[in-house]
Amino acid sequence: MTDKIILGIESSCDETAASVVKNGREILSNVINTQIDFHKKYGGVVPEIASRKHIENIDSVIDEALLKAGMTFDDIDAIAVTYGPGLVGALLVGVSSAKALSFATKKPLIAVNHIRGHICANFLAHSDLKPPFVCLVASGGHSHIVKVKDYAEFEILGRTRDDAAGEAFDKIARVLGLGYPGGPLIDELAKSGNPDAIQFPRVRMDKNSLDFSFSGVKTAVINYLHKAEQKGEKIDKADVAASFQAAVTDVLCEHTIEGAIKSGVKTVTLAGGVAANTELRKKMTEECAKHGISVLYPPPVLCTDNAAMIASCGYFEGEKGNFADLTLNAVPNLPL
Ligand code: KG4
Ligand code: ZN
Repeated sequence: MTDKIILGIESSCDETAASVVKNGREILSNVINTQIDFHKKYGGVVPEIASRKHIENIDSVIDEALLKAGMTFDDIDAIAVTYGPGLVGALLVGVSSAKALSFATKKPLIAVNHIRGHICANFLAHSDLKPPFVCLVASGGHSHIVKVKDYAEFEILGRTRDDAAGEAFDKIARVLGLGYPGGPLIDELAKSGNPDAIQFPRVRMDKNSLDFSFSGVKTAVINYLHKAEQKGEKIDKADVAASFQAAVTDVLCEHTIEGAIKSGVKTVTLAGGVAANTELRKKMTEECAKHGISVLYPPPVLCTDNAAMIASCGYFEGEKGNFADLTLNAVPNLPL
């Protein structure tokens, strides 16, 4: 087999990223320019700022990815780019760059679904991982339980009906006055709190469905804080963070394990920003072990947005002959 070198480009939210990956598995470079500092003061991502920052940075991020890999465009076999889901203005920057580069260098273009990309981070982190397996994709925009049937074949077993898990983490961090992005801050604060201090709801939409709902737990935490404030009671933020995190991770684990058992697979993987959560990783590993299921997850840098996962996914799409042409457009609400 001759090696295939893919240049990946990612700009769907607040990270401008480019990466060079060999054969879908080996990272040769992984450059991530995060805009978090520019969005922090607004408590969330401001789409207009995101688009502008992507435009400012994308060329140098791509140059740096090639430089770090010790390559030029002559060494690249295809250009893979995230075309959805995400913020339309942000996506358009990556898509336009990839199209221009594909046109100028005559290299094939591959359109990558961002959620599929998150799943593929596991192929980078675990060189011998093979489908089938079940993946929990939990990020700021998505919460899906996916059966990965083959490298580019996916079946959704469950999804959120309202907020994404990461969105709930970000919202609760905001009401606790912790800052943005909330996930890592709650993760850290929860380590000194008691997860059993407050019983927040573990919502099950209906017993035959693996779907999630996180708006209930979010509201329950907000109500708890309001009531405590009205009564002039002292709030232990660490206990609130730990109890909230326990409620969310309990539900994520329970539904994912049920999905794995129903699918008859022996491996569960985690993906997306929330997969960086310490408690989720620990709980999923412990609970899955009770059912003889092993758990794999990428290092935190490959859980949050990056372009290596896009290049990996692009490789597998390319192997299936899934190429795009220059009519490619951004699709903000692209389904999995
Ligand atoms: O995958 P990602 O970088 O972007 C999206 O595609 O949305 O995920 C970002 C989300 C944010 O909501 C962030 O708060 C959450 O992932 N996150 C975490 C942790 N690290 C990032 N949530 C819980 N625990 C963490 N350690
Ligand atoms: Zn993402």
